[in-house]
Amino acid sequence: MSKEIAEQPGVLSDAIRHYLPDGKTDIVLPGAEMAFNMVNRVIMVACGTAFFACLTAKYWFEQIAGLPVEVDVASEFRYRQPPIPPGNVALFVSQSGETADTLAALRYCAGKADRIVSVVNVAESSIARESDLVLPIHAGIEIGVASTKAFTCQLSILLMLALKAARDRGRMPDADMAEHIQALRALPSTINTALAQGDTIRKAAQRLSQARDVLFLGRGRIYPLAHEGALKLKETSYIHAEAYASGELKHGPIALVDKHMPVVVMAPRDELFGKIVSNMQEVMARKGKVILISDEAGIKAAPDGVWSTIRMPTIYPNLAPILYAIPVQLLAYHTAVARGTDVDQPRNLAKSVTVE
Ligand code: G6P
Repeated sequence: MSKEIAEQPGVLSDAIRHYLPDGKTDIVLPGAEMAFNMVNRVIMVACGTAFFACLTAKYWFEQIAGLPVEVDVASEFRYRQPPIPPGNVALFVSQSGETADTLAALRYCAGKADRIVSVVNVAESSIARESDLVLPIHAGIEIGVASTKAFTCQLSILLMLALKAARDRGRMPDADMAEHIQALRALPSTINTALAQGDTIRKAAQRLSQARDVLFLGRGRIYPLAHEGALKLKETSYIHAEAYASGELKHGPIALVDKHMPVVVMAPRDELFGKIVSNMQEVMARKGKVILISDEAGIKAAPDGVWSTIRMPTIYPNLAPILYAIPVQLLAYHTAVARGTDVDQPRNLAKSVTVE
């Protein structure tokens, strides 16, 4: 897991270059031509970590491309028999390309959706073979049961796809596109800077390793990452963790907050930061221990009394979910190491779930 976390600058640089070749100012998809101007809706289906990549992509497709997105876990989607009217594209995200529920969901959509698109790591997989358009993530072989580098590569490909959709739909002027492209090309080195925070994160993880329950909070495009953070922590350290959209704090989870409850808050200083500040105050007023992951401006603006801070480099807002995946992975990894669990082979879990 540690090796695969550390590999991310390299694999991301490779993945990005496949869709954004040097010198190009637009996204280039491999294989069949695909335009989003006639698409009415994208249905995204996946399991586990890949599902959280889809949840993040919903923010991008809706905000950047103005394209409605429905996201579901494959095990629910396949039995729900959702109607798929014309104009819908079905998109499946899977590292292995062999997850039984995701494959069954794909087969349900075949012949109903206008296009079957898959975002996979294994290009020869069943899901890839049964798709009209395959978008490889170029993460290289991933061995750790807890997916890390595949997740950030999935996110990068989905962001680039959302950018392409925005261009096809006339929603992104050249200047905005240029800013996104510049940020994408700089992403591998920004991730290197985040990886250099390993020691600070290890110290925060040592404190986290004493907890019985942990809450992860995020807002807007960072919110799905709260789920990924909670999942990673559960999988690797067996600590009970839950994710909430921070606006939902008052609707339940605040009842659990006391001095034993660490709350991981992921919040770059973006347009929603002010709201996160009041959530942190609410947690600290109940003696909850806040671990804040933010950038320099966010850490400065945070209320006094934060338990631990993890500083991320400042990044173009749409790329923050990719960058903030790094501290989330490292936090889970170091917590598991502190507790002495087997991070690479967590109990009861399989890398690829090919049966129901
Ligand atoms: C298993 C793995 C997860 C993975 C999920 C989906 O639960 O342990 O790491 O996210 O399956 O797998 P897929 O290969 O479809 O991405």
